[in-house]
Amino acid sequence: MERYLVQGGLPLSGTVQIGGAKNSILPVLAAALLNDSSEEIRLRKVPALGDVRAMISILTCLGAQVGREGEDLLLQTAAVDCDQVPDLLMREMRSSIFLMGPLLGRLGRVRISYPGGCAIGLRPINLHLEGLQKLGAVIEEKNGSIEARGRLRGSKITLAYPSVGATENLMMASVCARGSTVIANAACEPEITDLQNFLNTLGARISGAGGPEITIRGVRGLHGGSYRVFPDRIVAGTFLLAAVITGGCITVEGIVPEHLTALSGLLEQAGAAVEIGAAAITVSAKRPLRALQRVRTGPYPGFPTDLQPQLLAALTLARGSSTVIEHVFKGRFHHVPELRRMGAKIDLSGHRAIIRGVDRLSGAEVKATDLRAGAALTLAALAAEGPSRITGISHIERGYERLPETLSLLGARILRERGAPEEVLSR
Ligand code: UD1
Repeated sequence: MERYLVQGGLPLSGTVQIGGAKNSILPVLAAALLNDSSEEIRLRKVPALGDVRAMISILTCLGAQVGREGEDLLLQTAAVDCDQVPDLLMREMRSSIFLMGPLLGRLGRVRISYPGGCAIGLRPINLHLEGLQKLGAVIEEKNGSIEARGRLRGSKITLAYPSVGATENLMMASVCARGSTVIANAACEPEITDLQNFLNTLGARISGAGGPEITIRGVRGLHGGSYRVFPDRIVAGTFLLAAVITGGCITVEGIVPEHLTALSGLLEQAGAAVEIGAAAITVSAKRPLRALQRVRTGPYPGFPTDLQPQLLAALTLARGSSTVIEHVFKGRFHHVPELRRMGAKIDLSGHRAIIRGVDRLSGAEVKATDLRAGAALTLAALAAEGPSRITGISHIERGYERLPETLSLLGARILRERGAPEEVLSR
């Protein structure tokens, strides 16, 4: 079993270059299936993440050829003709739901297994299915699988909630539909803009992404092209919070600072010094931080749910009492019992966490149950006194590339260990 061994208590400092966003790369890889020409797609500087590997396995199973050239991915999708996503691969990565849109758009049919709940709570897909039906798909759900078929026609779809995945799925489904589609109350996350820009590079005609109404004018087919996705705002935010929780100073470079406005505002409120450059943010913090009275996650430009666990970890060491309200994924508090094992004082009531700041955390054996919970535990371990052991790190490595190596360069004492547990953590 693999784990991280962390000897906490050191302030981290230095500069981190941020790579491509996982949550952009995954839909972009799915969208590549819409290219039915023999031209190649080059995705530049794609990090080697667990989720990216899982999505590549799915594309390969569907008939695509995917190769690596240095940090770039090369995709040939002309031969894709399989409309069924294998159950095992579907389970490996829940985001595979958004293969429905491109496969249906390209082949006129798709079959996937039903994605059940996951560690951060139930993840319904009603908005995806209702939207596809609006585009003319006939959907049948039986024996745990969902089958959709039909030639799609443009339509107006108003989402009941600005779901990121549903917006992406419906954008992809309508790219090659007959006529125009309008998605109202669309998600406004930067990853949606990224998907629009990628699809337009391949010949799609999409406008409005980044705002609440997206228009997609149907085209006959897509071609190849070269694209580099936005930097990962969540990874960048995680490193800034590593500076905060350890009382250090970290610069994240190669980012779009406005993607992190919600976080940088809160960090300033909590007393950290935040310096914003053209493509970088520096955060330096002296502990203890001030508590934050009320943090509420929400759709972009609100505070991202994907940074809630890491911020919550930082608030365990703030002076005073903070409240964090999780409004996006209501069950997303699996990090709380683990943080309590490290001495954090947190009360949970429904989707609200009340964090009473403590003077110190102490190292412990903790388990990552999902990606961002794992990131939060790693941050807490970096700040804690004494050694910590974090298991379940395959979750963390779905979305963070070479995390121990990068943290070590910032001055952390962290090792990735496999096999039998070592008794002493030394370096
Ligand atoms: C994406 C991100 C995830 C992030 C989330 C919110 C990817 C691969 N994942 O997930 O990291 O935490 O956005 O920013 O990009 N909902 C429904 N019905 C649906 C779809 C969603 O009720 O059909 C609900 C969900 O249960 C949840 C909320 O809408 O409460 C937000 O979900 P959504 O925006 O769809 O998140 P994902 O696309 O799954």
